[in-house]
Amino acid sequence: MKTKSVVFDAYGTLFDVNSAAEKCKDKIGDKWEGFANFWRTTQLEYTWLRSLMKRHKDFWQITEDSLDKSMKVFGIDMSMKNDLLNLYKVLSPYPEVKKVLENLKKKNFKLAVLSNGTPALLDRLVQSNNLKDLFDDIFSIESVKVYKPDAKVYNLPLKKYKIKPQEVTFLSANTWDVSGSGNYGYNSVWVNRNNGVFDNLDFKPKNEINNLTQLLDLI
Ligand code: LAC
Repeated sequence: MKTKSVVFDAYGTLFDVNSAAEKCKDKIGDKWEGFANFWRTTQLEYTWLRSLMKRHKDFWQITEDSLDKSMKVFGIDMSMKNDLLNLYKVLSPYPEVKKVLENLKKKNFKLAVLSNGTPALLDRLVQSNNLKDLFDDIFSIESVKVYKPDAKVYNLPLKKYKIKPQEVTFLSANTWDVSGSGNYGYNSVWVNRNNGVFDNLDFKPKNEINNLTQLLDLI
């Protein structure tokens, strides 16, 4: 089946989630990376738990709640909380992102983001990094109020573009998001930036790449 739309996960795939803590590494010290990973893991756990508990809070509130816990666990001075949150609003994209999107745009694919982020957060991220014009749509889970990997989320681009799951090539660096979207029927590609190990969750991606530039050889 031919790809009609190329859809990207945002956090960890287009934007470097560790870049907020990294920008504060002089103040945080050597533990900055462990802290950044713990914050990210806790944030994701809260998305899954809140969806299962049916107690939705938006991704910005979850980001703050998980930061609060992570700062306590790592003994980080709470006065840094606002700085870290503000940096999370303007995360840096990975270096290849813009060129790859420009290239795909020329090939006339529908280009979209599909993310847990709120519409306001995602809008600011694409605006602050000059990427907004390259996307046809920014799909946020806020329109269905349940987090990935719920099928309602992966259905959003299909409803808008009137296409089949197999006509979506979906890119995520998050293994669980590749599994969730792959089980839903997308042609999901794992962006394995850090030489990781894939999940045992019923779906194995046909393609694995180390950075988004390699996608250009696949479609
Ligand atoms: C997102 C998270 C899962 O952008 O990375 O949806």
